[in-house]
Amino acid sequence: MDAEFWHSKWERGEIGFHNSEVNPLLTRNWPCMGHLGGTVFVPLCGKTLDIAWLLGQGYAIAGAELSEKAVQALFDELGVAPDVTVVADEAADQPLKLWQANGIRIFSGDIFKLTADLLGPVDLVYDRAAMVALPAAVRVEYAQHLVSLTGSAPQLLICFEYDQSKMPGPPFSVEADEVYQSYRAYYNPQLLESVEVEGGMKGKTPATEKVWLLDPVS
Ligand SMILES: C[S@@+](CC[C@H](N)C(=O)[O-])C[C@H]1O[C@@H](n2cnc3c(N)ncnc32)[C@H](O)[C@@H]1O
Repeated sequence: MDAEFWHSKWERGEIGFHNSEVNPLLTRNWPCMGHLGGTVFVPLCGKTLDIAWLLGQGYAIAGAELSEKAVQALFDELGVAPDVTVVADEAADQPLKLWQANGIRIFSGDIFKLTADLLGPVDLVYDRAAMVALPAAVRVEYAQHLVSLTGSAPQLLICFEYDQSKMPGPPFSVEADEVYQSYRAYYNPQLLESVEVEGGMKGKTPATEKVWLLDPVS
């Protein structure tokens, strides 16, 4: 999945991953994060309505999203006009930009170009359809990058599990073993909820959606 894959998904409006409602797995399980207030980092955020919900709970949001079209739509749908500045990679095809308004800062561009200095302090992480959007080799790098960007802040992670031989992805299947392998040096992963995906994964194979609390090791 290169950048072009995702840009063309957004250009064509092929965004089946975008939910038209706030994710009930978020609202049901967020209280387990046990942290009121602060900044939530939402990697690969798209234009998720979950951001509006988190803002409504009093959190500040920092996000990262490749597609400027998605980021523009996110702010349009929130009804706020952001200030936009280039913050890195000025000469690149897609420079890293910061879009900000009251309580919300979104970096447009490749998350791997984002640094902890640019991102600033983060209290919590919400990964829905971010890790599962990436192929296995990239997920290894992603998990390390997320940990170093956020100082291993507590994380709510939502993954799909299904028979990967039945469908190429994305979304990819990220099984419990991989969650442990990727994060056990930094977190104690705890499974909070497991639900069958209605109709299976794109109708091709049964699938389960799992919600993990990644609690930092002390
Ligand atoms: C499956 S979608 C999930 C979006 C959002 N989390 C949601 O729940 O609706 C994955 C998103 O990641 C973005 N993306 C893919 N690769 C990226 C990268 N390297 N850096 C930043 N965003 C990326 C895509 O443009 C897409 O919007």
